[in-house]
Amino acid sequence: GLVNTREMFAKAIKGGYAIPAFNFNNMEQLQAIVQAAVETKSPVILQVSKGARNYANQTLLRYMAEGAVEFAKELGCAHPEIVLHLDHGDSFELCKSCVDMGFSSVMIDGSHLPYDENVALTKKVVEYAHKYDVTVEGELGVLAGVEDEVCAEHHTYTKPEEVVDFVTKTGCDSLAISIGTSHGAYKFKPEQCTVDPKTGRLVPPPLAFDVLDGVMKELPGFPIVLHGSSSVPQEYVEMINQYGGKLDAAIGIPEDELRKAAKSAVCKINIDSDSRLAMTAAIRKVFAEKPAEFDPRKYLGPARDEMKKLYMHKIINVLGSNDKL
Ligand code: G3H
Ligand code: 13P
Ligand code: NA
Ligand code: ZN
Repeated sequence: GLVNTREMFAKAIKGGYAIPAFNFNNMEQLQAIVQAAVETKSPVILQVSKGARNYANQTLLRYMAEGAVEFAKELGCAHPEIVLHLDHGDSFELCKSCVDMGFSSVMIDGSHLPYDENVALTKKVVEYAHKYDVTVEGELGVLAGVEDEVCAEHHTYTKPEEVVDFVTKTGCDSLAISIGTSHGAYKFKPEQCTVDPKTGRLVPPPLAFDVLDGVMKELPGFPIVLHGSSSVPQEYVEMINQYGGKLDAAIGIPEDELRKAAKSAVCKINIDSDSRLAMTAAIRKVFAEKPAEFDPRKYLGPARDEMKKLYMHKIINVLGSNDKL
């Protein structure tokens, strides 16, 4: 069945790699994630956001994730390691409902709350979840942009001096931190970037690795999570624009920085937007090149293939979680 994140994270920290946490809302994304994980022999975290729950129905998603374990076995993986995780849970009730429903891991995101309220809420979720051996991710620090329906103008980096107190008081199993990543495809304004003279592409300012170092010094060996880690592949942005889309100055996190993070105590890296871009690019291409096509399998199939390629690339070339099963 589904597993929680405990052993997975312990192994990832020791091994210097990170587990991919991919969001899913539909069957094609799920198929692509499982195919990629099986082919690369990688553990994987399937994430369901509140929006995904509203879009696809929590019960359906739960059985899809359980089905994913059987699907992985059918594809030849004897012992798949698949987590079903609630992404950005915003209340005790939502987290409880996911625990009760069979999720193996939940995030309670109280990062926008005053510190003491974040501690109290996270602790309450941990106390409930641990009764069912469900692991809990907490968050300290605020990512710029829209997070959990709260919109922040600026990053508030995680304060390393708070993390020991937070983890000790709450008992959470992993901690999401803010070091300059953000959600979505527009992570940086062009005016914050420099131009790479070789490629002509925009290079964003570096992440605050000093903050990560500070956190790791305070919490040696503790699992750290990085949200907002899409790299926004420019090939997809260009493809989308070539086939009628309009994405202006979509800029993500350079994969070199993610590679560096994956080698540290960062053991869960969240990627959603890149998969959305791959799917959209592939679908737009079919629509542009074969306007007479109206069988959804003829455009969702290529979209699935493109997402699988993306997931395999992330696993093998960025996170290093391949060959770990
Ligand atoms: O946290 C953000 C994830 O990418 C999920 O996004 O809330 O649009 O499903 P969503
Ligand atoms: P991206 O928008 O960068 O893919 O981040 C996803 C995420 O953090 C989900 O929780
Ligand atoms: Na790591
Ligand atoms: Zn997130």
